Amino acid sequence: MPATDQVPLRVGVVGLGFAGTTALDAFSSLPGVEVVALAGQEQPRLDELADTRGVPHRYHDWEDLVAREDLDVVSIGVPNHLHAPIAIAALASGKHVFCEKPLAPTGALAQTMVDAARDADRVLEIAFNHRRRADVRYLRRYLDEHDIGRIYHARSSWRRRSGIPGLGSWFTNRQMAGGGAMVDLGPHMLDIALFLMDEPRVERVSAVTYGELGRGGRGGSRNAKTTGGNRAFEVEDFASALLRLDTGGSIHLETSWASYSADEEDIAVELLGSTGGVRLFVRDYATDGTIRIFGDEGGAPIVTIPTVHVPAGHHLAVIEEFVATVRSGAWANAYGDSALHRSRVIDAVYRSADEHREVEVA
Ligand SMILES: NC(=O)c1ccc[n+]([C@@H]2O[C@H](COP(=O)([O-])OP(=O)(O)OC[C@H]3O[C@@H](n4cnc5c(N)ncnc54)[C@H](O)[C@@H]3O)[C@@H](O)[C@H]2O)c1
Repeated sequence: MPATDQVPLRVGVVGLGFAGTTALDAFSSLPGVEVVALAGQEQPRLDELADTRGVPHRYHDWEDLVAREDLDVVSIGVPNHLHAPIAIAALASGKHVFCEKPLAPTGALAQTMVDAARDADRVLEIAFNHRRRADVRYLRRYLDEHDIGRIYHARSSWRRRSGIPGLGSWFTNRQMAGGGAMVDLGPHMLDIALFLMDEPRVERVSAVTYGELGRGGRGGSRNAKTTGGNRAFEVEDFASALLRLDTGGSIHLETSWASYSADEEDIAVELLGSTGGVRLFVRDYATDGTIRIFGDEGGAPIVTIPTVHVPAGHHLAVIEEFVATVRSGAWANAYGDSALHRSRVIDAVYRSADEHREVEVA
């Protein structure tokens, strides 16, 4: 680890899957940060990760890790239903929390986490890593520096041809996950759209959800998880929602774990302004050529394609920001409120789909 004159920040990481491993590697790579404890239930993986990363303390259950008194930070990368209990226990014992998205399976549970952060006066940061993509940051800067008029509508979507992350695992269990494609992919796509639109509030939602492929045992990801759950498919594999904003504008948010459509996998965000537009389109994790800027010149339409390369490492960027906030000692705006609004919107998507009508966001 590079030298630093700061007291090391002591981190405990919970979870050994993609999320836990990514957080473990990101925290471990930062100067002045030590991962001293790791928890997870797959013993061989726990041993392998702890041995290769030099983590001295390992636990099967999160409760034993959170009970350590010497931790400054707990990082949460476990199934969604465990985010709230782990975060609340960690915050109540004075630790800062870095939590995977979604904050929780429901907005009500997400609220209890934000309340716990405020009560304990500790940071609650959420892994909105996609917002830290180089192309999203480029667009944010572009919009700060250029006028595209009134941004009245956004289309934001994450679509997979065949990518249900674990048919029958915790991902497709309603109680453990909170929902399907919308609760899993929706937080990222909603986050990017709201971030680029200067954080309007979503007031009303009209949505539909379907589970046509998953219910028939189709659409599973090749990298499917098989842990947790009850083998059933209880959630949606496709959701589409119209969100009405307090600015008078709107967002069309669409998420698909699986559908019979042409593309393998793509992420898209398009902003329509009254005098210009911008578009992010990432097919199959492309790292170049993902941005288009639309405008007029001399009365004729023009399209600009800026040169922006998108390296990996978006988790590292959000974890760096989290560590900087903790180190700054100034975290009065870092109790997770903006993630809570995203959770409330996703709640409203499910409520609207269940009730077949437009609903208000709580
Ligand atoms: N931000 C992103 O891009 C991103 C990507 C993938 C996953 N995620 C999120 O990360 C979280 C985990 O996803 P994943 O794909 O890594 O899941 P996973 O199923 O691969 O891993 C879950 C881990 O949680 C551990 N765990 C479960 N119960 C536990 C307990 N009682 N005590 C200790 N450990 C326990 C398991 O042992 C396992 O190691 C989810 O909330 C998911 O939405 C975010």
